[in-house]
Amino acid sequence: MSLPYRDALEGISPYVPGKPISDVQRELGLIEVIKLASNENPFGCSGNVEKVLKDALSDIPLYPDGNATVLREKLAEKFGLKPEQFVFGAGSNEIITFIAQIFLNPGDESIYADPSFTWYYTAVKMSGAKPVAIPLKDYTHDLDAMKNAISDKTKIIWICNPNNPTGTIITAQQLNDFLSSVPKNIVIVLDEAYYEYATGENYPETVPLLEKYPNLIILRTFSKAYGLASLRVGYGMASSEIVSYLNRIRPPFNVNTLAQMAAVAALDDQDFVNNTVNETKKGLNFLYSAFDRLNLRYVKSYTNFVWVETRLASTELFNKLLHKGVIIRPFMGNWVRITVGTQEQNNRLITALEEVL
Ligand SMILES: Cc1ncc(COP(=O)(O)O)c(C=O)c1O
Repeated sequence: MSLPYRDALEGISPYVPGKPISDVQRELGLIEVIKLASNENPFGCSGNVEKVLKDALSDIPLYPDGNATVLREKLAEKFGLKPEQFVFGAGSNEIITFIAQIFLNPGDESIYADPSFTWYYTAVKMSGAKPVAIPLKDYTHDLDAMKNAISDKTKIIWICNPNNPTGTIITAQQLNDFLSSVPKNIVIVLDEAYYEYATGENYPETVPLLEKYPNLIILRTFSKAYGLASLRVGYGMASSEIVSYLNRIRPPFNVNTLAQMAAVAALDDQDFVNNTVNETKKGLNFLYSAFDRLNLRYVKSYTNFVWVETRLASTELFNKLLHKGVIIRPFMGNWVRITVGTQEQNNRLITALEEVL
């Protein structure tokens, strides 16, 4: 007799992460393998982090501070918000799940762009609601089509800015127009996982919008520019009302002590983040020239990764590069997503691409 799995799980596949380096080493007998598949920080993390983690070791037997008080207060000061406007997750991923859980009932609808970060789909499906995917236009969110897709069942709209996997942004003006035209009872989630890389003239500064739009939630993470992906810590900023509902379902102690302490230490080292962003921009320019030389189509990126089209099917290119010890991320058709590495890693990628293509 079959077990009573929920109907909502139909159509959900396990998340497919970037292939780990150790898998490739083991499966292909390679030693020197580089991973440019998960938009991690190739420059590591702040030196401050190592020091605080040593100090934190004695706290391992104790439960973490479930309120993440020090981190909360530090971020509140940084952004000029109230401490109760922050929610923390084991990665911003976890907060995406919480958001879907607090707003979506079976039968509701939730709109997101396609392709975009795949967890929106999973989180929406998990809650029993209907995911409504709106294809990108010119590699970026088609805000008009997203607006037209709104029905009286729409509860959440997800905007990934910059968008993963294409690296494009919607501008401050586009966002303002969108926010002002969407009914205020629909929740807008701005996923800004790559915020630190994107800051520039047209990229929106969204924290000040929280006051005007109580239906807004901003998500950020320590996994990318801060280089703390394995520690799993991300945060959401929203009205204290939304946060109070998110906290109803947030599991106890979901962000561990090492993650909290590392995040606080990382915030104190903005030089590290600035250096990461500068080196990434140089790396992107290097990759653009190499792609131009190789006659490959790519999309200008506001992030630490780039969306590229080659003449090979994406899985074929992925497998060929894998045999050369370079892990990238295959997507649809001939499109792949490649994380910007260190200069040495970028050189290695381009050499491998030249051989394979
Ligand atoms: C757009 C976007 N949002 C959220 C996440 C989740 O990041 P984390 O859970 O590590 O904070 C990622 C990770 O790749 C991402 O690309």
